[in-house]
Amino acid sequence: MRVTVVGSGFVGATTAMRVVQKGLADDVVMVDVVEGLPQGVALDIRESSPVEGFEPNIRGTNDYADTAGSDVVVVTAGLPRQPGMSRMDLLDKNAAIMRSVVGAVVEHSPDAILIIVSNPLDEMTFLASELSGFPKRRVMGMAGVLDSARLRYFIAEDLGISPSAVEAMTLGSHGEAMVPLPRHATVEGKPLAELVDEATLERLYQHTRDAGAEIVGLLKKGSAYYAPSASIAQMVNAIVGDTKEVLPVCAWATGEYGIDGVYVGVPARLGRGGVEEIVELDLNEDELAALRAAAEGIRAKCADLANLGT
Ligand code: 2OP
Repeated sequence: MRVTVVGSGFVGATTAMRVVQKGLADDVVMVDVVEGLPQGVALDIRESSPVEGFEPNIRGTNDYADTAGSDVVVVTAGLPRQPGMSRMDLLDKNAAIMRSVVGAVVEHSPDAILIIVSNPLDEMTFLASELSGFPKRRVMGMAGVLDSARLRYFIAEDLGISPSAVEAMTLGSHGEAMVPLPRHATVEGKPLAELVDEATLERLYQHTRDAGAEIVGLLKKGSAYYAPSASIAQMVNAIVGDTKEVLPVCAWATGEYGIDGVYVGVPARLGRGGVEEIVELDLNEDELAALRAAAEGIRAKCADLANLGT
């Protein structure tokens, strides 16, 4: 199993490290345009292998020919946000980067599954899908696992309990139109809504919506990478291990939830085929309306992208 990570910034580097440390692939390839960067990061990671006890199956390159035959390609290439920027402010610049990356990936790995991570996430996933010409099930975006992880962490922090006791899922878009699902959040199996009041729920959701910007504001240059890379690694594991786990990912909807022909955050069963099924949870009218509104917001932005000259 070969996993390629495009982009050797912090998200790419920590993703590659997690994938090789967890032994998810026989071969992990890091590729970046900056000479020496992927090679240096890969060497550094290999040198940690005797201490950490993993097989050092990782290499860096500037040549996409070295990524040939990848089973999974994670695209992290692109500019991160700076303080005060929204994810949408990155649209034009990261679209240009996506155009140069996806063609090179596809040329050498025509059967790969693509996991897009660059922002604005939902729109970049759509663009990568268009540029690749791949079946939609083989192109997905990472955001729901991250947003859900943040929400689970904030719930655990607020209640003073272990995050492992908390389940929660967010759908919709990676941004203001994130859709939390109160009825599907549980703490030790009990519905969260029975444990905290409405105002607390709303505060936790808003904290989750703002979580990416909170990290950008603290780091002052660049955005989060530990929680994003952990989320990507979980998706890679589900695909290469064919686990059929249901994870919230940005996937192409074809009528599920009454949404058609757009990439949006939905629960998806992941396996060797990529997105093998979009799972329809029991949503109430408000949740459905919020999910549909998120989908329409993404659809409108993707239309803007086409006007920019895809
Ligand atoms: C985040 O939410 C960068 O969008 C990414 O941290």
